Amino acid sequence: MKNQDKKYNTFQVQAPSNIAFVKYWGKHGRQLPMNPSLSMTLSSCKTVTQFEYAWGADSLDHSQTLFEGDHSLSFHARLNRFLCSITDLYPELDQLSLKISSHNTFPHSAGIASSASAYGAIGLGLARIISEKRGRDFDIYQEASIIARLGSGSASRSIKGPFVRWGIDDQNKGSDHFAQAISSVHSSFNKLYDCILLVDSSEKSVSSSAGHELMNKHAFKDSRNKQANEHFQALLIAMESGDFEAFGEILEAEALTLHALMMSSNPSYILLHPNSLEIIARVRMFRGETHTPLYFTIDAGPNIHLIYPESAKLAAENFINSELRSFCVADCLFDHAGSGAIINE
Ligand code: PMV
Repeated sequence: MKNQDKKYNTFQVQAPSNIAFVKYWGKHGRQLPMNPSLSMTLSSCKTVTQFEYAWGADSLDHSQTLFEGDHSLSFHARLNRFLCSITDLYPELDQLSLKISSHNTFPHSAGIASSASAYGAIGLGLARIISEKRGRDFDIYQEASIIARLGSGSASRSIKGPFVRWGIDDQNKGSDHFAQAISSVHSSFNKLYDCILLVDSSEKSVSSSAGHELMNKHAFKDSRNKQANEHFQALLIAMESGDFEAFGEILEAEALTLHALMMSSNPSYILLHPNSLEIIARVRMFRGETHTPLYFTIDAGPNIHLIYPESAKLAAENFINSELRSFCVADCLFDHAGSGAIINE
């Protein structure tokens, strides 16, 4: 059947980005994590993806990818490679004609890992399509997390919200294959905010994939694993009991450990910027002076995420706007915890 004769179905998916509190760093097998991780799903920073699809192709026919309204050859090629790489798990894809159009609600230079929201959206869209062939027993949201994970590990945590775990912990709970929402969280975490401070918008000198790879032979691999598991259990307890101080201490220890692992890998590298350190120092000083529960976390880059509860919103945002804005290269992005990816039919 010619492409123009096919009847295409359309729907839209929205998937948010997420910020890890306990970091996933290092992997094995087919995108399986070396340690359990825990994240907050964002609300405003998301990828919106339109799917057009028809069944009846002779082989996977992924004919078009638009990114931010333009034909993107590099995005198209990357997506094609990804789709081909999962046809062993989802052979239905070989009967599919597919057109995808995607845009982010946050600027490209915002320093937010767009792969988490992008693959979150792709994962949920493909799971929704494949469910038509697999029937009722197919758990769309669980499978979406698996597909997203195969694209980018942290994307597995962008399907559910507001707090999500991924990876088997040392008590044998959880799954390495898909992420799950955490249910028992104290009401003081009901409204949690993330202000993203853009310190530097240039391309990262070392990719996350290269960073994960360096963990395989890292001198601190075993101790990192032990620490991540301890942080993971302690964070669950802090979030269940509402202990914001214990929560914040783990948050900052995880961020600094992630960067310490980069600095102590072989070859070593540094992604932090002098202004990242300046912001960290000022946040700690402000917290010491005012006792405002404002804590930082950092992903694999120089930009700083500031996390605070509803009770600290006014004080934290006044401080950010008056004292930290000058260390940033663009306006801060104010976001908060969200409930995960959705499908709009
Ligand atoms: O999903 P990846 O392969 O881009 O790895 C991301 C890893 C961190 O963002 C640094 C930590 C995390 O758990 O999100």
